[in-house]
Amino acid sequence: MAPSTRAGGNALARLTSVRGLLYGGDYAPEQWPAETWREDAQLMVAAGVNLVTVNVFGWSRIEPAEGERDFAWLDEVLDVLHEWGIAVDLATPTASPPPWLASRYPETRPVTADGVRLWHGSRNHFCPTSVVYRDRARRIATDLAARYADHPAVVLWHVGNEFGQVCWCDGCAARFRTWLTTRYRDLEGLNEAWGTAFWGQRYSSWEQVVPPRAAPYLPNPGTDLDFRRFTSDMLLQLYTEQRDAIRGAGAAQPITTNFMGFFPGLDPTTWVGELDVVSDDSYPDPADPEAPVRAALTHDLMRSLADGGPWLLMEQAVSAVNWREHNLPKTAEQMRSDALRAIAHGSDGVLSFQWRASASGAERFHSAMLPHAGTDTRVHRAVRALGADLRALAPLAGTPITARIALLFDWPSWWTATRRGLPTSRLDPLEQLLAWYRPLWRAGYAVDIVTGEADLTGYALLLAPTLHTVTDRALTNLRSAVGTGVLALGPFTAVADPNGAVRPAPLPAGLADLLGAQVEEWCPLGPDGARLTARGAGTGLRGHAHTFAERLRPHGATVLATFTGADLDGCPAVLRAPGADLFHLGAVVDEETMTTWIGLLTGAAGLAPPESPVTGPAALETARRGDHLFLFNPGSTPVTTTLTHPCTDALTGAERAGELTVPAAGAVVLKET
Ligand code: GAL
Ligand code: ZN
Repeated sequence: MAPSTRAGGNALARLTSVRGLLYGGDYAPEQWPAETWREDAQLMVAAGVNLVTVNVFGWSRIEPAEGERDFAWLDEVLDVLHEWGIAVDLATPTASPPPWLASRYPETRPVTADGVRLWHGSRNHFCPTSVVYRDRARRIATDLAARYADHPAVVLWHVGNEFGQVCWCDGCAARFRTWLTTRYRDLEGLNEAWGTAFWGQRYSSWEQVVPPRAAPYLPNPGTDLDFRRFTSDMLLQLYTEQRDAIRGAGAAQPITTNFMGFFPGLDPTTWVGELDVVSDDSYPDPADPEAPVRAALTHDLMRSLADGGPWLLMEQAVSAVNWREHNLPKTAEQMRSDALRAIAHGSDGVLSFQWRASASGAERFHSAMLPHAGTDTRVHRAVRALGADLRALAPLAGTPITARIALLFDWPSWWTATRRGLPTSRLDPLEQLLAWYRPLWRAGYAVDIVTGEADLTGYALLLAPTLHTVTDRALTNLRSAVGTGVLALGPFTAVADPNGAVRPAPLPAGLADLLGAQVEEWCPLGPDGARLTARGAGTGLRGHAHTFAERLRPHGATVLATFTGADLDGCPAVLRAPGADLFHLGAVVDEETMTTWIGLLTGAAGLAPPESPVTGPAALETARRGDHLFLFNPGSTPVTTTLTHPCTDALTGAERAGELTVPAAGAVVLKET
């Protein structure tokens, strides 16, 4: 992850340079008779579909009994699709092992933290370390790849689906011990790292070490953190084993798997080196007014994982999902905006779950590109319209995005700071990330999301909202970044080592001397919070602090704002280092104060708001990719604005000048002329 834009090395960019933006979705033809396949292909072409993901859940069909193979149906499906010019993203079907596997080999099924072995009858019922599961998964991946490596329809491979399984079984416990041996070498190292001297947890033999299973009270934070790392690593092994099986069978196409955005179950920053294409599943809730900003943030994470180059929106919903309590459909405008927002933030395609609505099964009430009611429907018309939009945006394929601003976030910090046993359980690093991101998103800045270990040298502004857990390497990196850019720290940052243990004072670790201040105490705030008042002229920092604050003790730092009220009356709230581009905000603040704070920092970094031909209401969300400016109206009423100079409407080709109205939840894409 670096602010570079090496689209040349991006396998997806190579694919889309030939095919344009990718459009389509999951296609599960095994649910339908063969006559439907031709009709599907024909309708796909009419909708502008050029890529479908096939075989995600096809294992029990391909291997109806242990060791048997039935590829005939898949041969025909791929041939039909190819005949119609539709490319295939072919999946290893390993996310849903066949019932015969689950029944004959119970050890392939996962065990919960409470010791319950889960059953088949849904999906994802596998233990990530099961030798039998892994072996059978490799075999099916190998045979699949051997058969279709040279099939002209196949342009991409898709390993498994949404990796995220966790298992606490005895097999996983044994594997966990091996993993820990590599990390700590001996038991002494493990006892030291986990701080087992507390609560008499000292281990005297490896056999005593188990995953953090159901226990009477708070688990050891080190065990918990390492088990999450371990789980992420085991899932990554599943991915790499199947990837290597595909390659070993002679397939040369790029290989990917679909992430789930900010999903806590795996750390994607440790995975990306193994993927040819970064892809993501995105299901913003149409009922959530915050959905647009959350989606934009997640898309920026994906683009950052792809080093600024294109990534792929592998799944989204064209309308309602069926797995929330109450599932609002998307309006046609919402659907279009959700899709175009991904393109604006660097995706080279829009794929949906799924092409044809399932008549049976758990997701029969999930929306689909081809609804139960058929083609003469609101949803399908919107699907065809989006196909046309994406064709119009084809010149954007492969276009990278360079950001001068990075938000720092990492999974271990998120894991640690969302466990029990903390000063507060209300300080979620992801929510803080979002709070710091929001003003940047409103102003239309391009923002990367990177870890403290990334190459930070190209960024003018680095923001660490709640980077709680920091490695030594990250600390060195952050420290040297203060020379090349502006660094701002939020509360509860640079507190813990990679095991979650509090680093030696003064905090923030490794930066307190540069800052000219230290954090003395963590202070969750009562319901009234505290007021925040600017000290001296110029910063405009005033507002409300809530949830969490820090007692800061300056020794040389300039105090930019102080607290009024609570126990922190008169204490510094915002600091600037003497003679260094380092700032510290010691509280969670309201949205307006956050906007002032971010404005102060972009100013200090010399980053003027991105230029835009649009004046007037700030209610519009903007994002720039190449020479295209995307305007979104996240609100529920139309917004009218005025163009400062004429532009081309990139979707219709029409010239636009003067007043421009963006419909409620809608989008307009302009091209500078
Ligand atoms: C995804 C999954 C798909 C489908 C979809 C429904 O998480 O990968 O297979 O279940 O959700 O929204
Ligand atoms: Zn297991």
